[in-house]
Parts: sequence; structure tokens; C-alpha cells
Amino acid sequence: MTLAAISMLSADFLHLEEDVRFVNRHADIFHLDIMDGVFVPNISYGFPVVESMAEIAEKPMDAHLMIVHPEKYVERFAKAGAAMLSFHLDAAGNPSEVLSLIRSCGMKAGIAINPDIPVERLYPFLDKADFVLVMSVFAGFGGQKFIPESIGRVRTVKDEILRKGCPCQIEVDGGVSAVNAAELREAGADILVSGSAVFRAADPVQVISALRG
Ligand code: DX5
Ligand code: ZN
Repeated sequence: MTLAAISMLSADFLHLEEDVRFVNRHADIFHLDIMDGVFVPNISYGFPVVESMAEIAEKPMDAHLMIVHPEKYVERFAKAGAAMLSFHLDAAGNPSEVLSLIRSCGMKAGIAINPDIPVERLYPFLDKADFVLVMSVFAGFGGQKFIPESIGRVRTVKDEILRKGCPCQIEVDGGVSAVNAAELREAGADILVSGSAVFRAADPVQVISALRG
């Protein structure tokens, strides 16, 4: 089954508890977008918010680091309660080391790429990562338009994973909605991240079931 990961960037921060409980009831994963204003032009939220969510989260927390020097914060995210942690390939000096650091802290390790990075650059890490995060918008902001070429990129990575026979999963993030979910699942996505399409929907539960398929 494809898992629905909800990007809390589009949650209502004045009623965050309500939105966390909604994800507990209806979705599979909390997707937490961490931006530093350096690797990406935007700043999101940090540890106080992550730790507060952790107090009541009943589903795994997946932190997506869009920051420079991701290695500095790996332990801190483990302590804050993250079960999955991803960083951007081009933000790390030695991606293999960061992946093994994440695993040594007891989390699933993921490596992310923006839409302008050839997917082949992920190949050397497919057997060292628990998942890859294929961005379907440029990291930095919620609510952007899905880039359709992402579907082919997911398929290409999936073929390579099958060829290698490794258990690496594919997460897709950015502009994902009921409109493109089926194609992404068919292409090989295991985890679909969605923020604005869920929180802005008249019927968010229906959107989540469309993501899962
Ligand atoms: C973009 C983030 C995404 C994004 C998803 O930098 O990594 O997780 O917030 O939100 P939507 O679904 O609104 O594109
Ligand atoms: Zn994200």
C-alpha cells in the first residue's frame, strides 16, 4: 500500500493540536519540512514545534531537512522523536556518512533531490538509504504546482531499485494531489507527501484515500 505523508507546513499553526490529531486518525506519516533560509530561501519551523507535535503524534514523524550541514542536527532530530530523516544530496559533503549517521541514531535514512538534479546521482546511495525523496517541486515552499516530468523520474529510479534488488523506498514530495497520485503510484512511489491538497480540501479524508489508492 502507498502511504500518505501529510506535510504539516500547510497545517493551521493556531490549531496545530487539532491537525496533528487529524493525521493520527486518518493518515500514515507526519512530514515535517525543516528550512533554514540558506539551503532554501524560506524558513519554516524548528525544534519547539517538532517536539510539541511529538508529544501527541501517534504516527511516525518524517523530517525533511532543507538545510545546510544536515549532519549537525541528526542526533537532535532523533531525540525530538523523528523516525525518518532525509537531507538533500547537494547539502551534504559526504552523503554516505550522513546516511549511516542517521541509521546509527535509529532512524530510517533518506536522501532527497530537487527536480533539476539527474536521478542517476541517487544510484550510488540506493543500497545505503532506506528511502529516496524525489522532489516534484523545487524545495522551499508549500502549495507549488506539480512538475509532470517527476513521474518519469520516479519510474527511472524505481527501475534501478528493482535492477539492484534493494529495499529502498521512493517518497514523492511537492504538489501531490488526488489528480496525480495514481500515476505516481504506478510509477513506483511508496510514500506520497501532500500538504496543501489535503489541508485546503473540502474533504481532506477523501484526498488521503486518493493518495493511498
Ligand atoms: C516543499 C516541501 C513539501 C511541501 C509539500 O519544500 O518539501 O513537503 O510543503 O506541500 P504541497 O503538498 O503543498 O506541495
Ligand atoms: Zn517536504
